[in-house]
Amino acid sequence: MTTRTRILTGITTTGTPHLGNYAGAIRPAILASRDSNADSFYFLADYHALIKCDDPQRIQRSRLEIAATWLAGGLDVDRVTFYRQSDIPEIPELTWLLTCVAAKGLLNRAHAYKASVDKNVEVGEDPDAGITMGLYSYPVLMAADILMFNAHKVPVGRDQIQHVEMARDIGQRFNHLFGQGKEFFTMPEALIEESVATLPGLDGRKMSKSYDNTIPLFSSAKDMKDAISRIVTDSRAPGEAKDPDNSHLFTLFQAFATAQQSAEFRSELLQGLGWGEAKNRLFQLLDSELGEARERYHHFIERPSDLEDILQLGAKKARAVATPFLNELREAVGLRSFVAQTQVAAATKKKAAKAARFVSFREDDGSFRFRLLSADGEELLLSSRFSDGKSAGRVTKVLQLGEVYEVHSEALSFRVWMLGEYIGESPVFADSAARDAAIEALHIALKPAQE
Ligand code: TRP
Repeated sequence: MTTRTRILTGITTTGTPHLGNYAGAIRPAILASRDSNADSFYFLADYHALIKCDDPQRIQRSRLEIAATWLAGGLDVDRVTFYRQSDIPEIPELTWLLTCVAAKGLLNRAHAYKASVDKNVEVGEDPDAGITMGLYSYPVLMAADILMFNAHKVPVGRDQIQHVEMARDIGQRFNHLFGQGKEFFTMPEALIEESVATLPGLDGRKMSKSYDNTIPLFSSAKDMKDAISRIVTDSRAPGEAKDPDNSHLFTLFQAFATAQQSAEFRSELLQGLGWGEAKNRLFQLLDSELGEARERYHHFIERPSDLEDILQLGAKKARAVATPFLNELREAVGLRSFVAQTQVAAATKKKAAKAARFVSFREDDGSFRFRLLSADGEELLLSSRFSDGKSAGRVTKVLQLGEVYEVHSEALSFRVWMLGEYIGESPVFADSAARDAAIEALHIALKPAQE
C-alpha cells in the first residue's frame, strides 16, 4: 500500500501561459511534485477547453504551448503523470456514469452556470440563451477527472472550490449507490495555496488575460522587456525616494528574487533609483531566472513530435490506472460481460438471498468458526477462529443485519473485513471470473432483506 498523497490538477487549454500563471500555479505545482511524498497527476484539460472555445487552431496551439511550458519549467515526467485529458477515453466514460447519479439540482447551483443565467436575465434574454450542456455539465467532467484517479488533494484557484465539493458530492453518491460496502472513490480536497503569489499585472490589478495586463512568460526576451516597460508607476523622478511597499513593480521583483536581492532593490528604490532603471533591474532578474527555461520552451515548440511522445507515454501511465478502475465501475453499475455471469445467473438474486446460510462449527483446537454457503451450497467464506461461540455468533448476526463490510480480492480468493476486524476468507477459485461471481453471491447473500 502506498501512503503517498495523490495530487491532481488540470489546466484548461485556452490560452498562452503568462508570468502570473507561472508564479501562481505552474512553479508551485512543479515544486510540489518533487516532494517524495507526492504522487502528482497533472493534465491538460482540453475537453474543458472545448466548453469555452470553438476555435480549433487556438485549442491546438494552447495545448502545445501549455505542455511545452510545464516541461520547460522543469516538470519531471518520470516522477509525475502528465497527460492530456482527451487521451484518456475512460474520463468521458466515467463522466457518463457520474452524470447518471449527479443531481440536476446540484448542477443548477454551479457558480459558472448561474453567472451565465444571471447575465441573460439581466439583459432580458431567455435564461438559457447561449448556454451549452457543456457549460452546464462542466462540474461532472471535472468530477470524473478527479475521481478517476482517486486524488486526495486538488490544487485549484478559489473559483474552483465549489467544483471540488461537487466532485465529493457526486462521488459519495456513487459510492453509496453502487459500493456495497466498498468506497470506490476517495473524497478529494481542494488545496488552496495561501502562500503563493498572485502577481499584479502591468496596471497593478491582478495579472490576468482578461485585463490585458500580462507579462509574457516564454515568448521572447524582447516581448518581456516591452511589457515591463509598460508597467505603470507613479511619477516620482529619478533621485526622489520611491515607496517599494506601494509599487507593484517591486511586488513583481520580489516574486522572483531571493530575500537578499529584494532587500537590495528595496534600499535602492528608497534611495531614489529611477523607474526606468528599476524596470531594467526587473527585466535582468526575470531574464536570469527564466532565460534557460525559455530556451527549453522553444526547443519543445519546435519539436512537437517530442511533446507528442511524452504525452503519449503519460497517457499510457494514466490509463494503467484508469482502465482497470473503470472496468470495476462498469461492473458495479451492471455493465458486465455475459460470460463471467454464468455463476451469478445460476444463483438468482432471490434464491441466494433466501437460501444463503451460515454454518457454525468447532475446530479441534476448541475455537469456533463458521462458513457462509450460497444457495447452491457453494462455500463463499470461511471465518477466522473465535475463542468462543458467542463472538462467532455476534459476527454472523451483524453481517446479516447489513453492517458495512469490505471485500479485498487477493489472487483467486478474497478476504472480508468488517469494522476494521478481519472476518475470514474465501476458498481459492478456479479463475478470477469465478472469484468475482462468488463476491457477487456474497453481496447478494448479505444484503439485508428490503421488502
Ligand atoms: N476547471 C479547472 C480550471 O478552470 C481546470 C480543471 C479541469 C481541473 N479539470 C480539473 C482542475 C480537475 C483540477 C482538477 O481551473
